[in-house]
Amino acid sequence: MSDADHLFPVTDAALAATRTTAAQYAANYARSLSDSDGFWRDQVGRLDWMTPPTKMGNWSWDPVDIKWFEDGVLNVSVNCLDRHLPHHADTIAIVWEGDDPKAPVRRISYGELHAETCRMANALIGLGVQKGDRVTLYMPMIPEAAMAMLACARIGAVHSVVFGGFSPEAIAGRIQDADSKFVITADYGNRAGKPLQLKGAVDKALEQCPDVEAVLVVRHTGAEVNMHPERDHWWHELRAQVPATCTPEPMAAEDPLFILYTSGSTGKPKGVLHTTAGYLLWTNMTFETVFDYRQGELFWCTADVGWVTGHSYIVYGPLSNAATVLMFEGVPNYPDVDRFWATIAKHKVNIFYTAPTALRALMRDGPEPVDRHDLSSLRLLGTVGEPINPEAWLWYHRHVGKSKLPIVDTWWQTETGGAMMTPLPGAHALKPGAAAMPFYGIVPALVDAEGKFIAGPEGQNPGPNEGNLVLTRSWPGQARTVYGDHERFTQTYFTTYRGLYFTGDGARRDADGYWWITGRVDDVINVSGHRMGTAEVESALVAHPDVAEAAVVGYPHDIKGQGIYAYVTLNSGVEASDKLLTELRYSVREHIGPIATPDHLHLTPALPKTRSGKIMRRILRKIAENDFAALGDTSTLADPSVVQALIDGRLNR
Ligand code: WT7
Repeated sequence: MSDADHLFPVTDAALAATRTTAAQYAANYARSLSDSDGFWRDQVGRLDWMTPPTKMGNWSWDPVDIKWFEDGVLNVSVNCLDRHLPHHADTIAIVWEGDDPKAPVRRISYGELHAETCRMANALIGLGVQKGDRVTLYMPMIPEAAMAMLACARIGAVHSVVFGGFSPEAIAGRIQDADSKFVITADYGNRAGKPLQLKGAVDKALEQCPDVEAVLVVRHTGAEVNMHPERDHWWHELRAQVPATCTPEPMAAEDPLFILYTSGSTGKPKGVLHTTAGYLLWTNMTFETVFDYRQGELFWCTADVGWVTGHSYIVYGPLSNAATVLMFEGVPNYPDVDRFWATIAKHKVNIFYTAPTALRALMRDGPEPVDRHDLSSLRLLGTVGEPINPEAWLWYHRHVGKSKLPIVDTWWQTETGGAMMTPLPGAHALKPGAAAMPFYGIVPALVDAEGKFIAGPEGQNPGPNEGNLVLTRSWPGQARTVYGDHERFTQTYFTTYRGLYFTGDGARRDADGYWWITGRVDDVINVSGHRMGTAEVESALVAHPDVAEAAVVGYPHDIKGQGIYAYVTLNSGVEASDKLLTELRYSVREHIGPIATPDHLHLTPALPKTRSGKIMRRILRKIAENDFAALGDTSTLADPSVVQALIDGRLNR
């Protein structure tokens, strides 16, 4: 079927309700490029400033030096809390739904969130946290996670949230890299009816982090944990001793707001650094525009705060708009496969934003669990994290959206801070699987392997065309550096194609000018919307004393999007055994976390290599995809017989 066969026009309902029509989008987009300063000057008023900026974008990508609103002064927590108090002190900021559907719902107003954030900020000050200090968060999905982030922002500390599924070793690596002396965690989380050990994991991590001075522990499940005297402090105890107001720290626009670790094609995860004003403005504006948010609506983003999606669309974007968010501790299929739909009905969610992998998993049970619930509160749907296959899009549209609701498929990255390409409800007809159009100020373009623009410079790529996706201009939400390693930032994003930002994604532009993301073109795989560096998984495997070498590739997986296929060669004399396979899986869990566990572990006496010793990943990918009819040129291999042996022993049949 061609793209055009799949065109879903803007519905009357979306159009009647829209904040942005097609004409407005076109005019705004054109102006955002032709008069960038003027365009952004008009947006500056979205935020409350202690000193409003006079300068807009001031950036270079060669050498890399990115600044936005640089002479402005503000505080992020004031923008998310204090400024809402005159009109929204009683508006609910966070509705909390626990893992257990019978857990009492928590409803936290802006007034309460302000007071709690101030208390936590005071507690942090009491523990010795100062402006500029890095604070590591390892939290379950509870309102205290948002309070902790905002408390850091209030006093000018830089948070580094580590996803609750990462291993103690991964936590330790991130604490060390950020040189963080403070940790905020909880006793346990709940996940699908089981306790998730958090404080215990932090204790283990801290065996390798002697510089950590204080740990603040939120009591969530109440289960027993070890408290180190001197080092560990209960939040509820400190909370009782501190005032509920706290003077916000004036922050320069380019002061750091947070670090978030993300995987790349080489080496250890990088600490992507976002700064204060540009990030906040970008998340504030994209939240309101892309999700077309109206005051009083309930917005539910199913991501975890440990990922950028949670940062931008559970915390900073919504709260800076005085929105009401649903925060959900659980998983889509507990206690039953209808949990998402039951929760939408229970809380009357208006806007629902989730990942394709969740939809693909839920699709297996058919529409009945969806149809069991009244979803009439829904007005808009969204997806994020990976390309959505048309089947999943159509299922989402038909069964959840009742063939009426627009779906915004938002393409973006940890490094971009917020949504970059997406249809806008009311402005763009939809195509299942297309990220559609660039947001204001964004200029995508396609380049070939040599970095030459495909069919014209600066995004003038009249389709159809396909290539590597680059961006040609900075935007306020762009990451500014890799923490402690600006050279790596430059190398990773701006040297493949000098002076352009390389996304790591492939894309195509169709004849209607719609953008389609085709997936990563580097050694990054996307497992259930989580980014994984193949190099990281390889080094976790090679860490096992019996392993000589490992090569990891992604392959298409029905539910996860991509699965992890690991080829492993053992040291000579080592016998393969089930015990060894278990140990290898364990090694990955220990070094990274369960999300990185390989789906297939293929033990092989040899890997296909060129005569110069380079592993031929292209061949490994093909075999993992179970698509080895056209392996391409294998004549440059040092030992072509290796390939047939791998094909014969392939695990994904
Ligand atoms: C990578 C970024 C965006 C926050 C969550 C992931 C892939 C993301 C889409 C989409 C196709 C997508 C890309 C991107 N991706 N959204 N709508 N369509 N691909 O953030 O962990 O930094 O991963 O996710 O490959 O490069 P991340």
